[in-house]
Formats: sequence, structure tokens, C-alpha cells
Amino acid sequence: MAAMAAVLERTEKVTIRRASDADRDAIFDLIHTFARAGEMLPVPLDGISIERFWVAAVDGAVVGCGALWFWEDGTVEIRSLAVAAHLAGRGIGKMLVRQLALESQAALPKGVMPQLFALTLKPTFFIKVGFDVVPRGRFTAKERGDCATCPFHAHCREIAVLWNGHDPATLTVRDF
Ligand SMILES: CC(C)(COP(=O)(O)OP(=O)(O)OC[C@H]1O[C@@H](n2cnc3c(N)ncnc32)[C@H](O)[C@@H]1OP(=O)(O)O)[C@@H](O)C(=O)NCCC(=O)NCCS
Repeated sequence: MAAMAAVLERTEKVTIRRASDADRDAIFDLIHTFARAGEMLPVPLDGISIERFWVAAVDGAVVGCGALWFWEDGTVEIRSLAVAAHLAGRGIGKMLVRQLALESQAALPKGVMPQLFALTLKPTFFIKVGFDVVPRGRFTAKERGDCATCPFHAHCREIAVLWNGHDPATLTVRDF
């Protein structure tokens, strides 16, 4: 994966940066707050692949996270995207998506747009930040690699969304 500056987006108070081991507990807590409410899938503490995560921090505290997963069929998945509820609607989710999209693009040969996707219960959020709803059957590596063994598979309500192909650098983020 192409190296990028550790800090890429700085507004008045929010920093988007690569996660480090020190962020593991905070990421776990964020994900599990929403997983307990049935809004996203749980991840065990030792299942957090920290090198895949980016975080949003406000005054040094982790308030958001998201990860990238590169599948063998060339698709790239956004996973475990979460923003602390008390900061929802302030643009932090969009900042994280922008960074993850830039990162997925940087990992590919120049000019190749990533097949960046997510499976989500929040399709409206993803549509607002640059994705289209697509049939989920097209992500065959994900289906084979994850969904087939997921305990929630039989009752899965997640909707597939795919990056609409525009340059992620043009995704505007507002000041926090
Ligand atoms: C979904 C989530 C990541 C959004 O983060 P956020 O920081 O609140 O989102 P932003 O403020 O960047 O919102 C960007 C746009 O999406 C809209 N939006 C945010 N959440 C939305 C939702 N649940 N439904 C519809 N629109 C939503 C915002 O109003 C904003 O629209 P605007 O540009 O017209 O103002 C956050 O609410 C969250 O962590 N939810 C729980 C976990 C989850 O569902 N994760 C989804 C991936 S599985």
C-alpha cells in the first residue's frame, strides 16, 4: 500500500490519521457501542487489524474509525466505519470516507479507480458521500470470504454500495 502522510486532513479540531496500537481499545469501544445496538457487525479486540484502520481524533481522543480491506478480486471494502454518536452529523464520517477512498486509490496503479464498496445498513449516508447502491452479488470475493461464514448471513439486511468513480480528492469536507 502506498505510503501517505500520517496526518492528511486537519480542520480546527479533527485529525484524520492512521491508527496505531494505542488506538485499539478506543476502536473496539466505538464499534461495540454500535454493534450492541445492531447497527454494525462486532469485531473481537484481537480481530482488529490495526494496520487497516484510520481514525478521527478530536483533541487527541479517538471519535471515529474506519478500515480498508483489499480483496483478491481487486475490490476494496470499507469496513467498521463509525463516528461517536455525540459527534454525528458534523462531517467526520465523510472525512473518514474521503481518506479511505484516497488510500484505496493510492494503493492502485495510477489512473485506476478503485472498486471501493461497503455493505451497510446506512445506504443514505454512503449515497451522500459518493456511492451508488448496487446488487451485492457482484462482490464475489467478499461473499465467498466473509459472508458465507457470517453468523448473520441468513438474515443479512445490509445493502451494497459502490464508489461512483469520481476522484475522492474532489470530495469536499467542511470545517468541524
Ligand atoms: C453512519 C455514520 C458513519 C455517519 O457519520 P457522520 O459523521 O454522522 O456523517 P457525516 O456528518 O459525515 O454525514 C455526511 C452526510 O451524510 C448524512 N448522514 C449521516 N448519517 C446519516 C444517516 N444515518 N442517514 C442518512 N444520512 C446520513 C449527513 O446528514 C450528511 O449529509 P449532508 O452532507 O447533506 O449534510 C455514523 O452515523 C455512524 O457511525 N453510525 C453508526 C455505525 C454505522 O452505521 N456505520 C456505517 C457503516 S457500517
